[in-house]
This record gives sequence, structure tokens and C-alpha cells, in this order.
Amino acid sequence: MKVTVVGAGAVGASCAEYIAIKNFASEVVLVDIKENFAEGKAMDLMQTAALNGFDTKITGTTGDYSKTAGSTVAVITSGIPRKPGMTREELIGINAGIVKSVSEQLIKHSPDVILIIVSNPMDTMTYLTHKTLGLPKNRIIGMGGALDSARFKFRLAEAIGCPSSDVDGMVIGGHSDKGMVPLTRLASRNSVRVSEFLSEERLQQVLEDTKVGGATLTGMLGTSAWYAPGAAVSALVQSIVCDQHKMFPCSVLLDGEYGLSDLCIGVPVLLGKNGIEKIVEIDLNDLEKEKLATSAEGVKKTNALLTEIGAL
Ligand code: 2OP
Repeated sequence: MKVTVVGAGAVGASCAEYIAIKNFASEVVLVDIKENFAEGKAMDLMQTAALNGFDTKITGTTGDYSKTAGSTVAVITSGIPRKPGMTREELIGINAGIVKSVSEQLIKHSPDVILIIVSNPMDTMTYLTHKTLGLPKNRIIGMGGALDSARFKFRLAEAIGCPSSDVDGMVIGGHSDKGMVPLTRLASRNSVRVSEFLSEERLQQVLEDTKVGGATLTGMLGTSAWYAPGAAVSALVQSIVCDQHKMFPCSVLLDGEYGLSDLCIGVPVLLGKNGIEKIVEIDLNDLEKEKLATSAEGVKKTNALLTEIGAL
């Protein structure tokens, strides 16, 4: 199984590293436009193979998409990341053109590929890819909710004072500071609702900290985060390549599910060899439904900019 990762920056390289360490793909091809950059990252990563004990072959190419031919999954991380104080939405002007041209090149060489979009504003870039390529909707997936949910679990574990592996929780909605909907009502510690361990006030703080998870790190690091985004993408890739049917919230094209249509937004899905195997409709209460609807309005507003900038 061959996996392509476009963009050999921090997120792309960390994604390639996690895929290799988990040892489930035979080959990872890193692509970048910067001369020799992907080749260098690939070589550096390959020099960890003997130390980390993986057999995945990692190669790099400066924009030669013929090297990506026959990929099962391709991840698009290319584009510019956020700088401190920027929103993900502000990246649309530059990233729309990049994502469009990268996705067209990928599909030319791997007509059956399943695409995972990471570039921001992610929900809108996923929507743009659907509109541009017109592929079956199961084959284009936006990565946001898996990352936001991991950050939610981190914040819950921190607040409770327990390991992250003890807690379960999910974030749906748009991958934006205002649009995320952490499902605090359903979050649990070993099947016990987190409200048994945390006050309403503390839980509210967890929710707020989760929503600005990416912005907090951008402020601290001077650019957007990479370890957790890379790990989240690698988990999605593994579920597809190994046909695991794991459930993750992902940004997918909705056609009436959750009462929403003609947008991509984070909802729980099962990921397997066909990409999105199923959109899982869970029972939300009225407040959660309202928050999801508000989040959808925000995503649609950003999507409308695609027409304004001539990307659609
Ligand atoms: C983040 O939230 C990269 O959007 C990504 O860190």
C-alpha cells in the first residue's frame, strides 16, 4: 500500500513519520515544491528506520507527481500555515489555488486514490476539492475532528488528573476556533460521564481550551502545530489502509445528514478501504443541534469566499 503526503513541512513530515513508525504501509512518497526538500526529509526519516524498526520505504520528490502513481491514499497538507493571531479562514486566498492544483495532479496519476485534506481552512478546502474533482463523496475526507477530539481528550484528562487513555470524547462541527462543538455531555472516563468528575465551570473551561487548541499552540510555537495533526492524519490513513472501520469525526460532504447539505463539516464517520464507509448519525440534544447549525453557517460563509476569489 502506497501513501502520498503532499507538503513536506512539519505536518506532512510528522504524518509520514507516524505512518512509518506504525509500519502498516509499504511506501510513503513525500512531495514538496521546494527543491530537494522532500528528498531531504525522506532521507532523514529513512535514517531512523534502523533505530525505530520500520520497513516502510519513504521517498521524496520535488513536484514530480508521476512518483505518486498508484497511491491508495494521498494526504494534502500543502499551503501556508497560520501565524500567531491569524484565523484558519484568512489562509483561503493562497491555499485554495494550491489545494486545487495539487488534488488535480494527484488524481491524474492515481485515479482511484482516497484524498485526505489537512490544509486550512480545512472544511472549505475539502468542499473545494469535492467541487473541483466531482469524485464519489466517500473518497474525499477532511481531517479536523480527529485532531480536535485528541485535544479535547488531553484537556479532559488534564482537568480530571488522569491519563488521556482513560477518557473518551468527540468534537464535531467546523475545524475553526468558533465552529468546534466539543460534545461534553457525551464525554466519559471509562464509561462514567465526565460531569461526575468535573464541575460545570471546569467543564466549560475544557470546552473553551479545546476550541482554541490550535490557536494556543500557534501563539506558543510561532506557527501551527504538527505532532498532533500528524498523528491524527496517520490514524485516519491507517483506518483506511488496514480497513479498520474506526470511527472518527471527519469533515465530509453532507447531503441531508444532521439536517445539513452542500457543505463539508465534521461529523462521526467510519473509515475503511472505501474511505468513508458510513456517516454515523448520533442523537444530539437541542443545544448541540443548535451549535452544529451555527457552526455550519460559519463554514458556509467561508465557502462563499471561494466564489468571491474565483476558486469556484
Ligand atoms: C491545527 O489545528 C493544523 O489546523 C491545524 O493545529
